[in-house]
Amino acid sequence: MEVCVVGTGYVGLVTGTCLAYLGHSVVCVDIDERKIEMLRKGQSPIYEPGLDQLIASGTQRGHLTFSTDLSKSVKESEIIFIAVGTPPLPSGKADLSYVKAVAQSIGRALDCERRRVIVNKSTVPIGSGDWVEMLVKEGLNDNPVWRDKLGATANAQASGSLATSSTISSTNRRSNGAKPEDLFLVASNPEFLREGSAITDTFYPDRIVIGAADNHAAERLRALYEPIVEQTFTPPASAPRPADVTAIPVVTTDLASAEMIKYAANAFLATKISFANEIANICERVGSDVKEVVRGFGLDSRIGPKFLNAGVGWGGSCFGKDVSALIDIAKEYGYEPALLRSIVDVNKRQRHVPVQKLQEALKIIKGKTIGLLGLSFKPNTDDLRDAPALEIAAQLIEMGARVKAYDPIANDACRRQYPDLKIEYSASAMALAEDCDAVVIVTEWEEFRYLDLNQIGDVMNQKVLVDGRNVLDPEAVEMAGFKYRGIGR
Ligand SMILES: NC(=O)c1ccc[n+]([C@@H]2O[C@H](COP(=O)([O-])OP(=O)(O)OC[C@H]3O[C@@H](n4cnc5c(N)ncnc54)[C@H](O)[C@@H]3O)[C@@H](O)[C@H]2O)c1
Repeated sequence: MEVCVVGTGYVGLVTGTCLAYLGHSVVCVDIDERKIEMLRKGQSPIYEPGLDQLIASGTQRGHLTFSTDLSKSVKESEIIFIAVGTPPLPSGKADLSYVKAVAQSIGRALDCERRRVIVNKSTVPIGSGDWVEMLVKEGLNDNPVWRDKLGATANAQASGSLATSSTISSTNRRSNGAKPEDLFLVASNPEFLREGSAITDTFYPDRIVIGAADNHAAERLRALYEPIVEQTFTPPASAPRPADVTAIPVVTTDLASAEMIKYAANAFLATKISFANEIANICERVGSDVKEVVRGFGLDSRIGPKFLNAGVGWGGSCFGKDVSALIDIAKEYGYEPALLRSIVDVNKRQRHVPVQKLQEALKIIKGKTIGLLGLSFKPNTDDLRDAPALEIAAQLIEMGARVKAYDPIANDACRRQYPDLKIEYSASAMALAEDCDAVVIVTEWEEFRYLDLNQIGDVMNQKVLVDGRNVLDPEAVEMAGFKYRGIGR
């Protein structure tokens, strides 16, 4: 199938690349010329394991192209994904300005050659499917092809008056036979991939959710995903098929429910982490070890062991913004979402915990050198959006500390994106440790599990280690002469 993906970020680029791997003909569109230039040269603008190779093979086979020309790309495609950002506004609402701009541009670009399915993959508030439909229709008002069609049909009916109308009501008019829904349908297909394992998640998702008011839209999307649903494709070397994956469930539903599924999923995952952190904070006070506690209750099949790691709290581009947007949606309907508010509050508080532990261990922070191990919001990505490390670094700098940081991938991105954050970047964990009074594990990169603590301790001023992700064995750290502070243990 011919597919256009608008927005080549973490979601759009991975989606487009994986669909091209399956044999679809995909054009990935972005307004960011730098990104498209890099992609045309075979360089991925984001770090995602395995993505570079898949982009190269898609490009070589001629299945994957990149463009800044939305209009041309829309005309060449049957399925058009909107995968642009929906970042949070200061009010907590989702900023829909990028979605709006794209939807209107699609409306201006449509031709009458075939019926398109416009798919919201961006995470958008409930009701956005209908809103996008309205915006595409607004775009149609400025679309010469559509105006001609209205005019031609109207003329054929010996009624020239319609051809002069360029209002939304004219695009809704059915009496002349030309209907916008012959040109396009809107569907929702929320994305659940995780950065760091985005390719595996795309090829072997837990489910595919399709929201549509019209069977044709749902059927075309089902056809697009057929190789994934039936697992008929040959897996790429970078993403072997897990032994237990044979077919993928498809949840086909209405637009509003599909949109809500995404918010509910993220709110629930954020709840699990905030719950684990709440329990950790109580564990610490009563003398329990949260790792043991979570193991004990996570084995209950009604609860499940995943996403219950206590630590410095969740971050990233999705949880914070999606829970805030859901709170805002609830408020709009006069409902007070007390539980959702608590989830956010617990997470905010949790980001202060490592600093409190440093104060406990070092007493005075002013003038001390603190090393942060990890900057990205989680391992295997360079994504720094709402990363706890940024807030922890800012707090420490504010308190008068000298802050050093080492991230295996995200040093450069941090330097570029946050030039005002006065961090000294190190090229390795060893270089980071030099002259530090304490180091804090902020992101659980695999290599931090295997630090040579004896060597690291040798170059530090004081041997203090705050394990913000509970990845180390406290006894082993203490054996190496460190003061160890975990979370909830
Ligand atoms: N990142 C994730 O892990 C994840 C997971 C699931 C869902 N989502 C959702 O998917 C959406 C996209 O997220 P992301 O992380 O990929 O965002 P991103 O910021 O990485 O990428 C968005 C891209 O859209 C481009 N863009 C903006 N306006 C455009 C326009 N008018 N025309 C063409 N391109 C335009 C930007 O230049 C950027 O490259 C968001 O709604 C997000 O909530 C993200």
